Amino acid sequence: MNTTLSLLKPTGHLTLGNLLGALRPMALAQDGSDCFYGVCDLHALTVAQDPARLRASVREVATLLLAAGLERSTLFIQSHVPSHSELAYLLESTAYVGELNRMIQFKEKGRGQPSTRASLFTYPTLMAADILLYRPTQVPVGEDQRQHVELTRDLAIRFNATYGPVFTVPELVRPALGARVMDLADPSSKMGKSHADGSGIIYLLDSPDVIRRKVARAVTDSDTGSDAVRRDPVNKPGVTNLIELLEAAGGSLESITTYGALKTATTEVVVELLRPLQVRYAELAQHPDHVQARYAAGAARCREVTAPVLLDAQAAMGIG
Ligand code: TYM
Repeated sequence: MNTTLSLLKPTGHLTLGNLLGALRPMALAQDGSDCFYGVCDLHALTVAQDPARLRASVREVATLLLAAGLERSTLFIQSHVPSHSELAYLLESTAYVGELNRMIQFKEKGRGQPSTRASLFTYPTLMAADILLYRPTQVPVGEDQRQHVELTRDLAIRFNATYGPVFTVPELVRPALGARVMDLADPSSKMGKSHADGSGIIYLLDSPDVIRRKVARAVTDSDTGSDAVRRDPVNKPGVTNLIELLEAAGGSLESITTYGALKTATTEVVVELLRPLQVRYAELAQHPDHVQARYAAGAARCREVTAPVLLDAQAAMGIG
């Protein structure tokens, strides 16, 4: 059986982008794959966090993974599996400064600023460790993680060539629709980037009313022609994003000719898509012990599965 792995960062609430780009493909991978899915709390520390808020976020994301249908997977919190940080250091000792400097996320979020945390720079090596420790063949992620997964592949190939065949080189898995969901209020940037008021972000726990309001206010354009409702990512990014959302959430463009109708249809399918997840989340939130027990068992299995891989990497490098 092949292995699948993916993690989500507990910074803020999860969004429709997280669901379509990652959680849904992660759920689908459960058929025929041994899946390891986690909450990467260590990654959250690359920027300042209020400790109490971070703890609450970890709990919320952990509960949402279960609510999103990942029941058949091994679920864990990254910091509960110490081999992640241990392998990260070994990989830091194989990655080049030039490679890390080229990472888009680092360029956008901190390069050139003296108070940028050192961990933001080395983040991709921790992410590579997250992945390589499980020897997965597949990593389902949204488009924004492509560069990180490619670096992971490069590091694995280099490690294997230098020290011997320790790691599996994973493949990125991306969904056909929803790999890059854009912000409704600013369709030039991805949904999830911290926009001041969050008005263009649909959160997984938003009520139907809030979703309706956010979609109703989504940026479109002033096109009024009979073919206004069409995909054109360059000239009509807002409309293209709504069409992609509609189709990714299971709706159809058939017989939709106006922006009003597009927004109504999109709202309906998104509300229906989120409904079962929200019901399940409300149930699970009543049983935090159950959620915690799942994650404790998951971390125990992860410690077991990753220990020999870490030992192999250490031995290959001449330590341990
Ligand atoms: P994170 O927490 O930013 O996002 C979690 C997952 O959601 C996807 N995603 C999106 N997909 C489509 N449209 C969007 N607007 C959108 N926003 C987010 C992301 O691509 C991701 O799959 N570095 C990672 C977390 C990570 C990880 C890993 C992932 C750490 N270690 C190992 C895979 C394997 C991150 O910050 O994702």
